[in-house]
Amino acid sequence: MRGAYEEYLDGWDENGAEWEHWVERSEAARAAFAALLGARPDDVAIQTSVSAAVSGLVSALQFRGERNRIVISENEFPTVGQIAHAQELRGAEVVQVEPDPEAYAAAIDERTALVASTLVSYRTGAVHDVEAIYGLAREHGALMLVDGYQGIGAIPVEAAKAGDVVVGGTVKYLLASAGLAFMALRPGLVEELVPVQTGWFADENVFDMQIERYRPHRSARRFDAGTPPVPNIYAGVAGVGLIAEAGVPAIQQHVRGLVERLVAGLAELGAEVAANPLGPLVCIRSTDAPALVAAVAVDDIVASERDSSLRISLHLYNTAEDVDTVLASLERNRKLLA
Ligand SMILES: Cc1ncc(COP(=O)(O)O)c(C=O)c1O
Repeated sequence: MRGAYEEYLDGWDENGAEWEHWVERSEAARAAFAALLGARPDDVAIQTSVSAAVSGLVSALQFRGERNRIVISENEFPTVGQIAHAQELRGAEVVQVEPDPEAYAAAIDERTALVASTLVSYRTGAVHDVEAIYGLAREHGALMLVDGYQGIGAIPVEAAKAGDVVVGGTVKYLLASAGLAFMALRPGLVEELVPVQTGWFADENVFDMQIERYRPHRSARRFDAGTPPVPNIYAGVAGVGLIAEAGVPAIQQHVRGLVERLVAGLAELGAEVAANPLGPLVCIRSTDAPALVAAVAVDDIVASERDSSLRISLHLYNTAEDVDTVLASLERNRKLLA
């Protein structure tokens, strides 16, 4: 990642603001995200955050009349829940359900405009059955949004199978920086969506510099907004490149082995895992999660906490030895396990 940022700074030193090269890098990021998600570059928008992507998406939806409901689960990341509730100002009604397809099935009906599901819960590690939930949304003519942030890069995701709109970003399993995200739309959907959250990079031709009309680009670029987050794009292209080189199915298999080893060791310790089924994120119940984060940090383990759990996230660079180090540290700190 450092090398990628240096390349950006070297360009500044040599040429100043390299607009054309930046646009080309932005297109390289679009193509890389598209390949990762089995989508066409024309169906992918470059974003600065999931928040920006979801706000852009809902700006293209109406929440008037009979179809005004947004169904979300209790596992959604705060930004998705908060943006959903912000739509109450535009007539939406938000329904929050338990994170399983049965609960979604009970809530989704002809009044549903939008269904949102995280792919992996940031607070429990649970992997949602997004394909099943998407089936329910489709059955009732609702649009389905998948927040793939906590899984994409470690779990294979084919955007068109997961939802109508799949969003994510580069800070977690895509090995890059804060400040870069993406939004993949189902083929054909873009023509139906006209965002009112917009900007000059969403115009039919950014280089026209016109101020006469709103001319949303014919492709998903209509969801791009202002100047792209160029430095983060350099890092993002490098990070997604590493993931593509390793291959997401191979990463998933490697991570699955590590997670199984961790879960088996946790069972021996009598520790409680917050959810099942699991992807790359394992949340371990604690009596004092902030204290446990500090305690494992002494053993050089970088972890975080949410919702009374220690979060251990595993990826392609982790080894069985890393898992054993975590287990040994937790054994020493047994008193902090719930
Ligand atoms: C599931 C999920 N969605 C979204 C985000 C981040 O959203 P944003 O890109 O708007 O900061 C995170 C960050 O941790 C996340 O875990």
